[in-house]
Amino acid sequence: MLNAVRGKAASAEAVVAAPMSAASVKPALPPMPVKPPAAKDKKAAAGVDRRSFVAICFDPLWLAFGAMAATSVLWLLDLARFMFPNVLVEPPTAFKIGPPSDYPLGGVSTKWLAARGVWIVHTDQYKGRNLIYALASVCTHLGCTPNWLEGEQKYKCPCHGSGFYVNGINFEGPAPRPLERVGLKLAADGQLEVDKSVKFQEEMGQWEDSNSFVDGSLA
Ligand code: FES
Repeated sequence: MLNAVRGKAASAEAVVAAPMSAASVKPALPPMPVKPPAAKDKKAAAGVDRRSFVAICFDPLWLAFGAMAATSVLWLLDLARFMFPNVLVEPPTAFKIGPPSDYPLGGVSTKWLAARGVWIVHTDQYKGRNLIYALASVCTHLGCTPNWLEGEQKYKCPCHGSGFYVNGINFEGPAPRPLERVGLKLAADGQLEVDKSVKFQEEMGQWEDSNSFVDGSLA
């Protein structure tokens, strides 16, 4: 009897308790949307990043590494330049200019002026001798390049006005002496060969040297 009463009481409690537990279980809430970081936060983060970048750039250790790297690159460039030096290729001082017949009497050839700096002269206006010779195109005043004036039959320096006759003798302006001859000979193959490594000065009596001219009758 007592047990039956207790059983009823328990079931009554269960009936009362059941609606309460159901009420106490709350339905699961949907997840809260994540709030995107505010623009201010982004700026702050970017500022922090920039500051760290600048800090890294000016870090003494990185500066030292940078200086070492730059020094190494410069050293390597210097080494490369040393391994491949600039080579100044100059034309040979001796060169062939063709047979004497290319240079008729009374003519001043400017064919080799630009490339080799000489006039080839065939004249009989030096001591009445028929000669072919090569004159260096260097003014004996201060080294400018005179121009050959065919109409006036003279070399005229544009710098200070010195003038030279067709044979190279100076006659006006400040040039103190004649133009210089360079070496000239008849090569074995019948061509004239100029040699700029040797010079002949008239005032020194060097124009009498047979290496300073070729007989003009060969032309
Ligand atoms: Fe030719 Fe002076 S350099 S006249």
